[in-house]
Amino acid sequence: MLAVAVLVSGGGTNLQALLDAQARSALGNARIALVVSNRRDAYALTRASGAGVETAVLERGRGETPEAYGERLIALLKEHGIALTVLAGFMQILAPNVIDAYRDRIVNVHPSLIPSFCGAGFYGLRVHRAALERGVKVTGATVHLVNEVPDGGRILAQKAVEVREGDTPEALQRRVMEEAEWVLLPSTVAWAVRRLEEGLPL
Ligand code: GAR
Repeated sequence: MLAVAVLVSGGGTNLQALLDAQARSALGNARIALVVSNRRDAYALTRASGAGVETAVLERGRGETPEAYGERLIALLKEHGIALTVLAGFMQILAPNVIDAYRDRIVNVHPSLIPSFCGAGFYGLRVHRAALERGVKVTGATVHLVNEVPDGGRILAQKAVEVREGDTPEALQRRVMEEAEWVLLPSTVAWAVRRLEEGLPL
């Protein structure tokens, strides 16, 4: 089994999709070994505990540099023997030391078709608001490797979702989650774990 960590900040519906996939043996040899939240009030923590997964709260201390936070995160991931880390609604940019320590071993799910509506400032509902303001007819979700450029790492998978007349940011977010994120993230994690087990690069 390959130990996977999931980093979260909020509701954790993508974490839930991963937990559900694991429960129906659709995550291959992945074992969700740790859920880390940068917010102690994240509902995702309740979901993790409910599934019997170990949790950790890692809040950025007052005046703590991103690198110092990164060192604490690296230590935690090492302690748990984590082979693959999944950012599932983790609303904090990782410092270069973390990316360096886990090069091509961190994936993120983003709620648009990258390179549209991505990068610094594009997260959560803001992404869907921007898509509606621009008037695109198709949006979607992307799973990509994490590098030093926000949402700039190599794309692993994408799925398109139709925008409908009268969509609100909330309605569009829900459809992108249901039709794209909750499907794409587990299948890509399963794919990544298979590759890593075979000694192949992601
Ligand atoms: C998801 O839509 C995820 O793609 C997005 O935040 C939401 C988290 O929901 N992530 C980003 O915008 C990162 N740039 P969840 O906590 O229910 O999984």
